[in-house]
Amino acid sequence: MSLLSLAIETSCDETSVAVIKNKREVISNVIYSQIDIHKKFGGVVPEVASRNHLEKISQIVDEALNEAECSLDDLDYISVTNGPGLVGALLVGLSYAKALSFSLDIPLVPVNHIEGHIYANFIEHKELEPPFISLVVSGGHTHLVEVKDYSDFNVIGRTRDDAAGESFDKVARKLGLGYPGGPIIDELAKEGDPNAIKFPRSKIDNYDFSFSGLKTAVLNYINMMQQRNEKINEKDVAASFQAAVVEVLVENAKRVCKNMKIDKIVLAGGVAANNGLREALDSMGKEEGISIFYPSKILCTDNAAMIGCAGAYRYERKMFGSEETIAIPNLEIDS
Ligand code: KG4
Ligand code: ZN
Repeated sequence: MSLLSLAIETSCDETSVAVIKNKREVISNVIYSQIDIHKKFGGVVPEVASRNHLEKISQIVDEALNEAECSLDDLDYISVTNGPGLVGALLVGLSYAKALSFSLDIPLVPVNHIEGHIYANFIEHKELEPPFISLVVSGGHTHLVEVKDYSDFNVIGRTRDDAAGESFDKVARKLGLGYPGGPIIDELAKEGDPNAIKFPRSKIDNYDFSFSGLKTAVLNYINMMQQRNEKINEKDVAASFQAAVVEVLVENAKRVCKNMKIDKIVLAGGVAANNGLREALDSMGKEEGISIFYPSKILCTDNAAMIGCAGAYRYERKMFGSEETIAIPNLEIDS
């Protein structure tokens, strides 16, 4: 018997709804991005995000159902992100999901957003199974996670300050390039020299990361050039900055795999769309005999299909929520 679920994601600035069949089959995945609204503020404004989710959610649910050619009555359960994320934004999706679950009398399955990012990989890589190491790099998180089994996670490294995506956004903002900065820096870096400026690489004894020193070094470099009235080569800054972020991410992931004798790395989160990072991981993987997996770009950034896939494995384990389920802005993946 096949199972059909509706998945809702509203943790930040994407209102997204998907219909998932069984565990890994995406029937529809509608993503409405608020980026154009937040662009003029240079970043996501939480209150504006909540209001826009509220305005859009019903329409996006209808679109996802129409695209999947099914109705609410065909659904077996509802998956929804309940953290981490912006509390007001999370509450819109969670309240909507609770109301649907209550009125249709079907289970509610709360999903951790970071777990969703990792599960995005299962949608396209049908052969992929745990155990593996996941490198989760998004706007809010930079984690190395040991995925021992479905729903069994152990965080073995995390950023001590800025997230990788956040550092891309801050550097792009300083260069006046717009928001979100990751895709813009990624494009510029293709034409720049990664060795033009020697930015620092943070080395921490365990598997943690730190990007604030690098970010400050880039900002100081830009300030110094501006004070001297010298022309800044944006392509070289982008390429040199990106090379520093990528080197640290790849080195840590490699070290974990070698020490723990694991031969699979699964890349996840918005920064997983980065071309430089994908290429560097691929070539390290070839050298070290480590298999590298990442989702196609549309499934790297926030979307409901990944939440639906993670929800399906939780449904199987009867990890249901209730009307008591709350939105948790700092929800941990291994809590
Ligand atoms: O996972 P995501 O959509 O949202 C969070 O859960 O945070 O990630 C968004 C982040 C932003 O910081 C954005 O700049 C970054 O992912 N990003 C990229 C690229 N595409 C998106 N960073 C580097 N290169 C990219 N191509
Ligand atoms: Zn995300």
